[in-house]
Amino acid sequence: MLKENSNIHPIFNKILRREDKEKLLGHKSIVIWITGLSGSGKTTIAKELELELHKRGYLTKLLDGDNVRTGINNNLGFSQEDRKENIRRIAEVSKLFMIGGVILINCFISPTEEIRRQAINIVGEKDFFEIYINTPIEVCEERDEKGLYKKARAGLIKNFTGIDSPYEEPQNPTVEIKTMELTIGESVQRILDKLLPRIEHKID
Ligand code: ADX
Repeated sequence: MLKENSNIHPIFNKILRREDKEKLLGHKSIVIWITGLSGSGKTTIAKELELELHKRGYLTKLLDGDNVRTGINNNLGFSQEDRKENIRRIAEVSKLFMIGGVILINCFISPTEEIRRQAINIVGEKDFFEIYINTPIEVCEERDEKGLYKKARAGLIKNFTGIDSPYEEPQNPTVEIKTMELTIGESVQRILDKLLPRIEHKID
């Protein structure tokens, strides 16, 4: 793969800057990155969060594993290498949206510190709002909405996160949601409390 090319001259920010887009939209852009096990509730919370932000006039874009993996990342599987590439591409795409003023809501297992660190490095620490959806694996497995845990236990799916592939809990997320202790509404409120001050447009 071509890593560097001195003949490529990116023009990001040359004409209209991110700040111009943010001014137009009336809010700051950011990447909200939601990590957690399959079935932990990432997408459920993300959809509610998106609705709440939309109601308040924020321009958002929700990305999640199942959708991205049927499109731009449909050539990737679940080896550590493929997961890393999955997250790399998503982080790069998110950055492009973010420069365009959009608030990203990304729901990806992003299972390891290394993988999440890569995303943080691409997006930039100050624009990365990490949410850990903490649901015990027993609960995810009990719910098993997609029937994937059952298949993984039966050996029909290999490298399944939490079964035969690791999930490392984030050490210092911006927000941690323990879904066993909160309703969806309470979870979203907790996120908004921290998020809104970060994305409010300050008139200069
Ligand atoms: S990640 O590890 O690369 O971040 P991602 O969030 O894109 O994963 O995709 C996870 C989704 O793919 C799960 O919600 C589940 O529906 C599906 N899936 C299929 N196979 C696996 C697997 N081996 N491990 C985890 N999720 C899987």
